[in-house]
Amino acid sequence: MDRRGGEEPVIVALDGPAASGKSTVGLAVARSLKFNFVETGKLYRALALKALREGLALDDGPALARLFGGTRVTYEFRGGKAVVEVDGEDVAAELARAEVAEAASAISAIGEVREVLLPLQRALARAPGVVVEGRDIGSVVFPNATYKFYLDASVAERARRRARDFAAAGQNVDIGEVERGLAARDERDAAREAAPLRRAEDAVYVDTTDVAFDEVVSFIVNYVRNAEEARAER
Ligand code: DC
Repeated sequence: MDRRGGEEPVIVALDGPAASGKSTVGLAVARSLKFNFVETGKLYRALALKALREGLALDDGPALARLFGGTRVTYEFRGGKAVVEVDGEDVAAELARAEVAEAASAISAIGEVREVLLPLQRALARAPGVVVEGRDIGSVVFPNATYKFYLDASVAERARRRARDFAAAGQNVDIGEVERGLAARDERDAAREAAPLRRAEDAVYVDTTDVAFDEVVSFIVNYVRNAEEARAER
């Protein structure tokens, strides 16, 4: 799929709420299409980590923007994995921490912080193509993305998936608590003023509640392949 190789990259925007499967689906789609994969949440997490280390208040927009303006964050998708560096230090292992996720959610509500990350995200779109996963990819970061999908699932199903992930990592969690946590994060991500979680009007809505992972992946891959073939014939 390098019809436009060297030219404009094909951009597949993948948005949706927490634990809707964007990361796993996105990775599989990117592998299948031989595209790059960008998890933009990792960029928010990387900046959040820096703020935590510096002990900044997570609601002080101007101070955070000042700190982040002087911070070098790089993202590279290498060997099927995201390599994230903050000021030259590989921080990928730290980004999964719950404390970092919470801090990322807090700082992502601040417009100035989102501004800092815009050029960085846009610079990651390279030919032949990229799958970009986040909350505002189809609406703000790449409003002209070639393809847009919005992945959703009921909060109960997302809580089950999240709990399964925790269990696989050897952590026992209360599923009701996970569900309440997800619902609160959805509410916060959707209610914030700066780029709230919203389905772009032209995004294909994919409800994955009762759909197997492989089916979701092949739906998106086939959708993109068919559309690209149709475009190539035009
Ligand atoms: O997808 P994630 O859990 O790694 O994202 C971490 C936080 O960053 C999440 O609370 C929402 C925020 N985020 C965002 O606001 N916009 C994005 N494009 C990606 C993530």
